[in-house]
Amino acid sequence: MFKTLMLTTAAFAVSAGMALADGKVIGFSQIGSESGWRAAETTLTKKQAEERGYQLQFSDAQQKQENQIAAMRSFIAQGVDAILIAPVVATGWDAVLQEAKEAEIPVVLLDRMVDSDPSLYLTAVGSNLVHEGEVAGQWLAATVGDKDCRIVELQGTTGSSPAIDRKTGFEKGIAGHDNLKIVQSQTGDFTRSLGKEVMESFLQAENGGKDICALYAHNDDMAVGAIQAIKEAGLKPGQDILVVSIDAVPDIFKAMADGEANATVELTPNMAGPAFDALEAFWANGTEPPKFIQTESKLYTQADDPAGQYEARKDLGY
Ligand code: AHR
Repeated sequence: MFKTLMLTTAAFAVSAGMALADGKVIGFSQIGSESGWRAAETTLTKKQAEERGYQLQFSDAQQKQENQIAAMRSFIAQGVDAILIAPVVATGWDAVLQEAKEAEIPVVLLDRMVDSDPSLYLTAVGSNLVHEGEVAGQWLAATVGDKDCRIVELQGTTGSSPAIDRKTGFEKGIAGHDNLKIVQSQTGDFTRSLGKEVMESFLQAENGGKDICALYAHNDDMAVGAIQAIKEAGLKPGQDILVVSIDAVPDIFKAMADGEANATVELTPNMAGPAFDALEAFWANGTEPPKFIQTESKLYTQADDPAGQYEARKDLGY
């Protein structure tokens, strides 16, 4: 009897979900594929859409805002049922968001924020980006203690909300610790290759790296590139230069397991799950989600079984 009830309930839930998904088309404007984290977000969004029975129109903007705006206009012209967008930079979205609103197409922002009026989008799914930077800064301050520490910083894409907020947050995290100073700070555009290149210039400027005590990178991919540069300069990343970054991708856990990175703050790549849940409630009965749906930010260090974390994540699409 109980089993029959469970099966009936499950069948109803599936058919209700399918009814909601039935024929729905979702436009997804992705930034590009600058990092392992971004690749995982793309994989999980496609998977979630498939599991929920949506037809996903995927557009890769190759890091260009104009491509994202063109993709959004094309989704609006097609009359899609909803638009997901990971906005590459924070400014310049008002006009196209207004167009989507006038076409009555709900827009959900994924992982990055915009400076537009929140009435122009349904909701945003993301982490507290300032908090992520603050956690990284606090970890470094606690680890270094009273020692003088010259920090080099690899920033994310200029004008993007994670680059702006993770910088602010880190500065907040080390505030009041006068022995910690950011002595070099430049963008590495969230990529491994630029992370390495910019780190090489930091090493040169800082006595071959001997004057650097720590690297703070706004994402793990830049940290992984920088680790390579540190090794090529004859220094030991993780020991001579402490490495703290953000994302929690498998490769940083590998580096942590090898003693070459020290800490990372997790950003979940599953932004699509909460986004689709919000859209489904909105379609079902007009439920307005909160304007910001916050995901968790957890700190991992070398004490948190990095080898196990690597194994658990390595096949997840990063
Ligand atoms: O917006 C999230 C950031 O974008 C991730 O931390 C980074 O890896 C990505 O490129």
